Amino acid sequence: MSDVASSNNTELAPIQILFVCLGNICRSPTAHGVFESVVNSKGLSEHIAVDSAGTGDWHIGHEPDTRAQHAAKKRGYELAHLRARLVTPQDFQNYHYVLAMDHANLNDLRKLCPPSYDGVLDLFLNYSGEHQHLLEVPDPYAGGADGFEQVMDMVEDAAQGLLEHICAVHKFSAAPGRS
Ligand code: 4NP
Repeated sequence: MSDVASSNNTELAPIQILFVCLGNICRSPTAHGVFESVVNSKGLSEHIAVDSAGTGDWHIGHEPDTRAQHAAKKRGYELAHLRARLVTPQDFQNYHYVLAMDHANLNDLRKLCPPSYDGVLDLFLNYSGEHQHLLEVPDPYAGGADGFEQVMDMVEDAAQGLLEHICAVHKFSAAPGRS
């Protein structure tokens, strides 16, 4: 964790970001795919690495929910290559930012998080602009297609804010391009 890139030194290890929800088939893979796409489009893939995981084990090894894949594809993001996995205490040794979709995820993560963790454990929507006041990305699993569109709106907004935050804190320059 001490080798976090915190200057313009591009030889330092990448900043590691982990998005976490309950099942790792709807919200966190959406955040994973959207944020990875934004990072790639800004030419920062060497400096920022992205992953996602779930606090529940029901869907380990599964690809994202087809409704999440469909909502993402409509906006130009591909999620089909992602596979669900369980979050582990070891993740806190590897990830500089562990970002939860809702308070239940955050509470579960706090139970796994060692007291010595010196990264950021936070709600993803804290990096959002217009959706920040909502605090949580709602679980769309039991609802209809509208919920997945809402997830996309929130995730795109928070992904933009997160990238700006990381670039400011870690002094990365984003290439001009798709925002
Ligand atoms: P996610 O949604 O946490 O956004 O991946 C869910 C997916 C599956 C379940 C719950 C939430 N489930 O109970 O199986």
